[in-house]
Amino acid sequence: MTIPPAPSTHPDAGWWRQAAVYQIYPRSFSDANGDGMGDLPGVTARMGYLAALGIDAVWLSPFYPSALADGGYDVDDYRNVDPRLGTLADFDAMVAAAHDAGIRVIVDVVPNHSSNRHEWFKAALASAPGSPERARYHFLDGLGRHGELPPSDWPSHFGGAAWTRVVEQAGPNAGRPGQWYLHLFATEQPDFNWDHPEVREDFHTTLRFWADRGVDGFRVDVAHGLAKDMTLPLRSKKVLDILVDDGSDPLFDRDEVHEIFAGWRDVLNEYDPPKAAVAEAWVPFTSRRLKYARPTELGQAFNFDLLQAPFDAAGFRAIAEKCLVEAEASGASSTWVFSNHDVVRHASRYSLPDGSTLEDLAAWLLAGGATPPTDRERGLRRARAATLFMLGLPGSAYLYQGEELGLFEVADLPEASLQDPTWFRTQHSVKGRDGCRVPLPWLSDAADFGFGGSPWLPQPDWFAGHAADVQDGVEGSTLEMYRAALGWRRKLQAEESLQWLDAAAPAVVHYRRPNGWEVLSNFGGAPAMVPSGVDLSKVVLSSGEPARGAIPGETTLWLAP
Ligand code: NOJ
Repeated sequence: MTIPPAPSTHPDAGWWRQAAVYQIYPRSFSDANGDGMGDLPGVTARMGYLAALGIDAVWLSPFYPSALADGGYDVDDYRNVDPRLGTLADFDAMVAAAHDAGIRVIVDVVPNHSSNRHEWFKAALASAPGSPERARYHFLDGLGRHGELPPSDWPSHFGGAAWTRVVEQAGPNAGRPGQWYLHLFATEQPDFNWDHPEVREDFHTTLRFWADRGVDGFRVDVAHGLAKDMTLPLRSKKVLDILVDDGSDPLFDRDEVHEIFAGWRDVLNEYDPPKAAVAEAWVPFTSRRLKYARPTELGQAFNFDLLQAPFDAAGFRAIAEKCLVEAEASGASSTWVFSNHDVVRHASRYSLPDGSTLEDLAAWLLAGGATPPTDRERGLRRARAATLFMLGLPGSAYLYQGEELGLFEVADLPEASLQDPTWFRTQHSVKGRDGCRVPLPWLSDAADFGFGGSPWLPQPDWFAGHAADVQDGVEGSTLEMYRAALGWRRKLQAEESLQWLDAAAPAVVHYRRPNGWEVLSNFGGAPAMVPSGVDLSKVVLSSGEPARGAIPGETTLWLAP
């Protein structure tokens, strides 16, 4: 068993506990070389914008060499930069510029699977069944008389089966269909075998490689998927959701996974301040999700509960209360997220009719061709209120590029432009996630909205009204609201706790931070009574209309002490 090292006494050791982290999807952020794909020099060029926004850190989605079968989450080489996005020197320049601007850098690690172009997978394909090269992945013989059936009924996340059969290149069956390999995502994303010591060791090398280049933390993709029960015969699992909270699922959230992350923590603690890490673990049980976030493991785990919840006072408060209590008990700090590169943007989710579940909303927006009845004004009003509710809470806030511009999902991308593997693996029945990945609008009346090159996904005309330049300095714009909130947030965060206060109306949630800052959110459509003792003259920020004697509908107010 690993003995946890003594906690660091470095003054910056806990920088991540209440950080505002801005997610950059590099292909879609800013294009410096004009090839239509965002790149690392593009990020460097926008460091002034990021500093003015007031964030503490950026998290970059993968920028590694990749065929982009899954937007870069199919990694060919974990310790390099995709030439279309820059070079290692560009990476170093970007980190230096970020650090000069007081911004920390988090990079994505993708340990569940590599791409099928990774040198280890190419070696596995070129070697015979049973060879050491195959042992780093999950290769199995098929079922049926001739091995013609996949080894289990497991589905892939993007549709279709999680197994692909190979044509053998070596051994007695060369030239004939042979074994099957596991890929819980696209065919191009073979799953690693984490029981293999070389896989474990290689990821330690990757962590050190980027840590030595100055990154401050890691976002860990599909953290709950690394340990699998591959005992034969494989157990049946027709849906990928985790239905049990005891670690007995064959594919996800198994107890053995924590030993892997305890090993990672040892590596991260070789640095002072220790490197931060956040698990992407879609585990529906808070207490089990927080195991990944223990101080002896990654430190944080994404909390997607608010992201999945309808816009509702009681629901939001219950989630925030539970997550804060459980995070504290586990020694972590909570995280909060409304949008990222995998989900429909929250301004669009909230613009759909009440009573719709997230599944309805996703199906509505993502199903080929359907145009849902939306109320964009209300969607953005609610998104802004939800964001201020969240930014006032203790813990880390993860923001997704473009939400500070009030962007909606681009739900009607032309089919010919779609690139998400979901679109291809569902025989064009589910559009997938491209609608939240459209390159950002920087300038309202420039070609490509100032992105830098003809964008890899087409931008809609309505982006003009959301461009950064038309919001810059404009009171009440979403960009200025984010800037003000991120500025005030530093003052709120003196201590990592809050007190819930009784609100005057059921649609209102009211909390106070220890240093006297107060947040009041009205989730109802109509103005709500101000709780007694609240002095509206102390309002420094409103997500909507100014508060005149009442809390406006679907609005959050921040009050200074
Ligand atoms: C989660 C990532 O956020 C998503 O974009 C990706 O498709 C899967 N993991 C597979 O890597």
